[in-house]
Amino acid sequence: MNKTILVTGAAGFIGSHLSKRLLEEGHQVIGIDNLNDYYDPHLKEYRLSQLTNNFVFIKAHLEDLETVNKTFEKYKPNIVINLAAQAGVRYSLENPHAYINSNIVGFTNILEACRHNNIKHLIYASSSSVYGANLTKPFSTSDNIDHPLSLYAATKKSNELMAHTYSHLYDIPTTGLRFFTVYGPWGRPDMALFLFTKAIVNDEPINVFNHGNMMRDFTYVDDIVESISRLTKRPAKPNPEWSGVNPDPGSSYAPYKVYNIGNNSPVRLMDFIEAIENKLGKKAKKNYLPLQAGDVPETYANVEDLFRDINFKPQTSIQEGVNNFIDWYLEYYEVNL
Ligand SMILES: NC(=O)c1ccc[n+]([C@@H]2O[C@H](COP(=O)([O-])OP(=O)(O)OC[C@H]3O[C@@H](n4cnc5c(N)ncnc54)[C@H](O)[C@@H]3O)[C@@H](O)[C@H]2O)c1
Repeated sequence: MNKTILVTGAAGFIGSHLSKRLLEEGHQVIGIDNLNDYYDPHLKEYRLSQLTNNFVFIKAHLEDLETVNKTFEKYKPNIVINLAAQAGVRYSLENPHAYINSNIVGFTNILEACRHNNIKHLIYASSSSVYGANLTKPFSTSDNIDHPLSLYAATKKSNELMAHTYSHLYDIPTTGLRFFTVYGPWGRPDMALFLFTKAIVNDEPINVFNHGNMMRDFTYVDDIVESISRLTKRPAKPNPEWSGVNPDPGSSYAPYKVYNIGNNSPVRLMDFIEAIENKLGKKAKKNYLPLQAGDVPETYANVEDLFRDINFKPQTSIQEGVNNFIDWYLEYYEVNL
């Protein structure tokens, strides 16, 4: 059945891909985004220009409670998907207040609007960075996540805690999604794949952190979108086996669930760079540097509960995903190699 779905961060990388998919499925999509200049806003406008038909765009900050409330009241969404956030680990060391404003104040407004408008399912972006200092691999939603390494991670963990209270107090089904390094066409200019491709194309050196000793569970954007699309049909439910004596952090007696969405197959940073070099037919000039503050050397998603609940897990190979990104990059920026 077609629904009205509110997507915040609709002009963002993941939000624009998701909105396109939801429109193709026949839903009405109400997109909110403030089009901020954390990275080139033209890219956000181009992404929005791909969204047509049943798409309504509202340029607003999540912190603007009045506009958020009016939007909920006017369009009466069935499902809310909150992807708007100040993203990026490293930037949270320079501009902590951006994270508090968008991720904490903004998310509070979304929760309150869900409460007062009888929303049947809130899906929201969390992040693999919540695992912080945890070294148990692969990362499981049943692991403790009390040791974040950046304010970004702390705000994402806070979102999960805040969502739980609303699931408990107001019986709102909430589903938190811990995304693992998402990449693909229309990707973010502050992330490694974009930075590396741009530098290699321009014969400039790339910064290779932790001297290349990094592993990432790189996840292709279509796999993220497929997972979210399936989850829209599956609001979080109480876990009948949950016990307060031995509490599982990833579920609850309340309609609350968090999932990892990752490829479940970590790739060495040097192999990732090689995939880019293969596609571009050019070698990167590498500038080896120490691990950056706030970063973690390895991420690896356990996706058993995701697969159990939606019968799907990310599966795109690195070379295929990198090839798709580079095809898009070369076309969009009109690069002739
Ligand atoms: N891309 C990844 O690898 C990744 C990994 C883990 C988690 N996430 C999370 O997934 C979500 C989407 O990430 P993305 O990669 O698409 O990032 P993005 O920056 O491309 O998208 C976020 C969008 O939200 C908008 N926005 C930011 N703050 C806002 C505010 N206060 N009010 C209204 N709009 C605002 C931005 O303009 C942007 O268009 C974010 O919550 C991010 O933290 C992303």
